[in-house]
Amino acid sequence: MPRRSIEPPLRAKTQAVPPVILAGSAHPALAANVAKELGLPLGACEVTRFPDGEFEIDVRADVRGRDVYLVQPTRPPVGEHLLELTLLADACRRLCSKSVTAVVPYLGYARQDRRETGREPLGARVVAELLAAGGIDRLVCLDLHSRAVEGCFPQPVEHATAVPALVQRLFDVPRPAVVVSPDLGAVKRAEAFARLLGLNVAIVHKQRLSGSDVAARGVVGEVKGLHAVVVDDMLSTGGTVEAAVKAVLEAGAKPEVTVAATHGLFVGPALERLAALKLKRVVVTDSVPAPAQTPFTLDVVPIAPVLADVVKRLDGA
Ligand code: R5P
Repeated sequence: MPRRSIEPPLRAKTQAVPPVILAGSAHPALAANVAKELGLPLGACEVTRFPDGEFEIDVRADVRGRDVYLVQPTRPPVGEHLLELTLLADACRRLCSKSVTAVVPYLGYARQDRRETGREPLGARVVAELLAAGGIDRLVCLDLHSRAVEGCFPQPVEHATAVPALVQRLFDVPRPAVVVSPDLGAVKRAEAFARLLGLNVAIVHKQRLSGSDVAARGVVGEVKGLHAVVVDDMLSTGGTVEAAVKAVLEAGAKPEVTVAATHGLFVGPALERLAALKLKRVVVTDSVPAPAQTPFTLDVVPIAPVLADVVKRLDGA
């Protein structure tokens, strides 16, 4: 009888379990686009309200033993979206997910990263504690107000940037041009834009008078006869951009000013303020839902590919 060759048993191939992408109610379209970029379906999850207004969360996707990515920019109402995100994270953790990553392209309270008067809370730190209470393992965010915010989180923070994506839409700005930082805090961001566009930077000396009003005290750098591209992390009430645009026009910049910011919140008087400036164009990403209509030309850059890239990198890690 011929001897049978003894072959080692085939080792069961370990199949990579795909991550689960879930959407909160803040921006389901963005979550769907991130999932699409990854070639995954959006996980089933329902967020409704109890009669008294409390969130009623129902994670129906199978998250047991899987890496979950919760996509939820904490756009206004910031507190509501933040709490919803925390509850979603808690639900996933209790369903024995392997890990929970909060994908928060716009992080509210990030501007409260330090105390100015000593009489206010450290808002960014409190937000970090809240998300930690929900049991998040990691945070993915986009163009935080300042990198110092990362220090508030005990968990690893993946800090993505929309600058290269925004720059793609700015190459057609008429030359000669200059990148304008609307305040001292935005100088590094302005330098990043300027490097990619091959332009110089000018800086507006801004003074904040209230939550929605600011004043420009002067411009440092050359803007005379140049097309100004004002760049910022966010457009909230539009007060900062309004003051910066007026300051550079007063200093002799060409009238067709372009504005670019990662987060287009457009709250309060923002739309009217920006309309009155007769801007050439406003460029933002869809880190938060864009307004359906604007009284000025709004160019919205999809940010899902940038977020999906981060998820891919983390998933391969
Ligand atoms: C402030 O330091 C930020 O970078 C933005 O310039 C500011 O928060 C924008 O807010 P608003 O549009 O209300 O002036």
